[in-house]
Amino acid sequence: VNAAPEKHKPQKVTNVAHRGASAYAPEHTIASYKLGDKMHGDYIEIDLQMTKDGTLIAMHDETLDRTTNGTGLVKDHTLQEIKQLDAGSWFNEKYPEYAKEEYEGLKVPTLEEVFKKLGKNKKYYIETKSPDVYPGMEEELLRIINKYKINKKTLLLQSFSPDSLLKLHSLDPTLKLVQLISYKETATITDEEIDYIKSYAVGIGPNHTYLNEVYVQKVVQNGLDIHPYTVNTKERMKTLIDWGVTGMFTNHPDILHQLKKEL
Ligand code: G3P
Ligand code: CA
Repeated sequence: VNAAPEKHKPQKVTNVAHRGASAYAPEHTIASYKLGDKMHGDYIEIDLQMTKDGTLIAMHDETLDRTTNGTGLVKDHTLQEIKQLDAGSWFNEKYPEYAKEEYEGLKVPTLEEVFKKLGKNKKYYIETKSPDVYPGMEEELLRIINKYKINKKTLLLQSFSPDSLLKLHSLDPTLKLVQLISYKETATITDEEIDYIKSYAVGIGPNHTYLNEVYVQKVVQNGLDIHPYTVNTKERMKTLIDWGVTGMFTNHPDILHQLKKEL
């Protein structure tokens, strides 16, 4: 009789501070990243966009509107223009329960500034966003990773775009890559899909909503990590850990840290 497969140990579940500790501080600001670190996130998650003059900045959206007082596309603005913007006040208005005066007037950080402020020994989990809109973003990302001597053993790079990941893989096959996937209904994955992803990536990052234990176990039994996004309640975190996920993205790294101690 085959024993049930051993599940990933809860204490080893990777805690990814999604956009920093973005439940409590304006996403993708140095304040949010530092808080994510303080709240025991193992990794700081960074989304990348690129300015008109080719600088990689930390921002989720292709437009400035939601997380700054600016408007329009990132790609139509220079770094100098984006540096004039306030990337914190929107948070205070939207989440008065977590508002802080110090968030007013926070700046959009460049990737270089994140590495300078947080240091090369932190663990970063960096997403190439909209790679079709920003040709050359993979080369620029690698240039900065190398310039700041970021430890590639603990660095994780992620994208929804297989092409972007394949490009990174061809530029440097030692990079650890995670294929993001967005399911619209019950998540399923074939052996062929797993084999293909394994040819360039170390893990899969699916939205957690439509996951199930069979999917999670199929992925981990094939030797891939599985890091669902974005998991914000303790109950859901516990279910996913019971199913055997190896990590997860959360806006509440403090909740996941506490849960890991209790399990
Ligand atoms: O990178 C994991 C997760 O953040 C993907 O979705 O839209 O929040 O970047 P999104
Ligand atoms: Ca992301």
